[in-house]
Amino acid sequence: MEDVRWLKKMLSSELEVRPPSSDKKEAKYLAGNCAKIYRDGDLIGYAEMRKVGSHTEISTVLVDKDFRKQGIGKELIEKAVKQIKNDKILCCTKNPAMAKVLQNLTFKSIGWPGLSTAIMLTFNTFARLLSMLIRFEFKRIWRQGKGIHKYERYEFKK
Ligand SMILES: CC(C)(COP(=O)(O)OP(=O)(O)OC[C@H]1O[C@@H](n2cnc3c(N)ncnc32)[C@H](O)[C@@H]1OP(=O)(O)O)[C@@H](O)C(=O)NCCC(=O)NCCS
Repeated sequence: MEDVRWLKKMLSSELEVRPPSSDKKEAKYLAGNCAKIYRDGDLIGYAEMRKVGSHTEISTVLVDKDFRKQGIGKELIEKAVKQIKNDKILCCTKNPAMAKVLQNLTFKSIGWPGLSTAIMLTFNTFARLLSMLIRFEFKRIWRQGKGIHKYERYEFKK
């Protein structure tokens, strides 16, 4: 339950990621395909993984505010990469710190990700927009939409 509370708090305060869902759904996310970092028994880092076309996408990357700029983001992405079996990994971001983490781990900025991945990314973007609209998350929509041209796709090939 502590992990669910932490995740919901982080999702509520960080407007560049998806909005929080119910406790039950967040518990399911935490038990599913994700990477987690703990310190002294407390969850301090979280990232989700899901199949998107021919890639596995790492998304919803969160590090506790008190632990940022200490290499936890790097540790988290390294852990996610190890867990992913697919040899093509994708991460889309416009967050400069996230981009730096990916570049440090030799992710390469790519243009076209391939047809199947592009179709799924477009579908997921609309699904997320819809989920934010039905939750009246207008601040989040504004935050994510205003810099849409700054989003870069980073790929890692195993
Ligand atoms: C993005 C995030 C996960 C990074 O976590 P972190 O634990 O701070 O990451 P690390 O300490 O491993 O590395 C951060 C790197 O970014 C750099 N950095 C930090 N802020 C930066 C900024 N504003 N501009 C450019 N680089 C920045 C750091 O110097 C460091 O690089 P270095 O190791 O070469 O010095 C964290 O800031 C976060 O949770 N942000 C909020 C949620 C979010 O926006 N997630 C991304 C959604 S795609």
